Amino acid sequence: MADDNPRDLYIRALKNTHALEQQALQIMERQVERLDQYPEMEQALRRHIQETHGQRDRLEEALLGFNEKPSALKEGVLGFVGNMASLTHAGFGDEILKDTYANHAFENFEVAAYKSLLTIAEIAGERSTAGFEQSLREEQAMARFIHDNVEAITRKYASLAIAGEKAKI
Ligand SMILES: [Fe+2]
Repeated sequence: MADDNPRDLYIRALKNTHALEQQALQIMERQVERLDQYPEMEQALRRHIQETHGQRDRLEEALLGFNEKPSALKEGVLGFVGNMASLTHAGFGDEILKDTYANHAFENFEVAAYKSLLTIAEIAGERSTAGFEQSLREEQAMARFIHDNVEAITRKYASLAIAGEKAKI
């Protein structure tokens, strides 16, 4: 960790956050196709996918301003959260629960990443951070939406599972 100037730290943070958004897109795009029983979550996810494209563009623009390109996608930047999000539980019908837990975790992960990015921007004397403040608010809103919907999703899942079980008898 020697010889890092604030600008290097900022560029690294931009690249890491960019890789994070790339992975978030992959995860959400995989999930959104199997949410037809959960229209509210599907709608929120589709909206957030759109927002995430904007977030990624803002990061790319900031990197371009330093004549830097985003790094090739670093697999696993989300670590265990990413692993959890890519688990499939085909056949059990409870993917929605795991997806919800994983989304709750990774939206909060992104909230922390943007807070950190904004702090490093400040240390680096970077003034044009309004876009990242917007990204932070979008992540906080999505984290809040998931947080507020865990119970409703679980009830819906349970009623579908129980109805399916009854239908077999
Ligand atoms: Fe997000």
